[in-house]
Amino acid sequence: NPTNSQMEVNTMLERVDCRAKGGSPGFKVAILGAAGGIGQPLAMLMKMNPLVSVLHLYDVVNCPGVTADISHMDTGAVVRGFLGQQELEAALTGMELIIIPAGVPRKPGMTRDDLFNINAGIVKTLCEGIAKCCPNAIVNLISNPVNSTVPIAAEVFKRAGTYDPKKLLGVTMLDVVRANTFVAEVLGLDPREVDVPVVGGHAGATILPLLSQVKPPCSFTPDETEYLTKRIQDGGTEVVQAKAGAGSATLSMAYAAVKYADACLRGLRGDAGVVECAFVASQVTELPFFATKVRLGRTGAEEVYQLGPLNEYERVGLEKAKKELATSIQKGISFIKK
Ligand code: NAI
Repeated sequence: NPTNSQMEVNTMLERVDCRAKGGSPGFKVAILGAAGGIGQPLAMLMKMNPLVSVLHLYDVVNCPGVTADISHMDTGAVVRGFLGQQELEAALTGMELIIIPAGVPRKPGMTRDDLFNINAGIVKTLCEGIAKCCPNAIVNLISNPVNSTVPIAAEVFKRAGTYDPKKLLGVTMLDVVRANTFVAEVLGLDPREVDVPVVGGHAGATILPLLSQVKPPCSFTPDETEYLTKRIQDGGTEVVQAKAGAGSATLSMAYAAVKYADACLRGLRGDAGVVECAFVASQVTELPFFATKVRLGRTGAEEVYQLGPLNEYERVGLEKAKKELATSIQKGISFIKK
């Protein structure tokens, strides 16, 4: 028989459940890989987001601790934790936005592609769960190599018959966040005033900042263009080296993930003019996936924008990016088809 205090706890949990079910305004969001370096600060920031009513935290380790900790924050979202594969379905059921930072990060000397073998399998399993339990949810995929994991997710959803290209978004927001920061430094501006489109993909040469389209309008010398392009492309490696074996970007990534998730939720709510870059199914180039600016709405990526006018430096970069991207996309597709 439950003790009195156990009964009190049960009553309280029922009340929390009621609040979650009672349609308090907001969206139901799940984070898969919530106990990781990105997952923890991401969970904290999403708990602070007023657009979130229910927050499910899922991981294969350490999730109860993170959940208990985050759940004490006196913000609106109701937090629930889920541990291990046997709880994946419960974590996903009813969710409207799924954010995936599950997987291993880079160590010095590794490329994002070196993560492929481990992360491809993790993303496949998680997406099979999504197809089964919340096929209409928007998916924000962070796990690297994004250039391959997004095609993997698409193939899993196609096989399950649930694929909606508008709902699958590879998160490249950190490249935009870095670009805004580094360009603002060169221009002597506040980064909040700067908007740099970053297109292509999310790895090395596939990351293509369009410095000719920076807002506010400005111009760069060839040296500045070279410096900025390289620094934006190598931003991830800069952090990997500084962390010296302790992983890759987590805090700036959590910030970028929340900036992106918040844009998706504003789109779902029906806000007009929500536009951010993401790696999506695309007809902008001959490749099946490409990152460009995307308008987010009630059904996900409702409009994929064209590249706009490029200068010669960017045209050369684009050709290089496309070559590398084609290989990474094919690698993802083959992983599922083989
Ligand atoms: P981490 O190792 O600190 O955390 C990963 C978490 O995923 C761990 O808690 C682990 O238990 C969990 N996990 C592993 N297998 C899982 C499974 N089957 N289901 C659910 N959770 C599982 O790694 P970190 O630093 O948080 O990075 C996560 C991923 O994000 C890496 O693949 C990394 O390369 C990527 N990343 C992507 C960026 C982007 O811009 N898209 C930027 C930075 C990192």
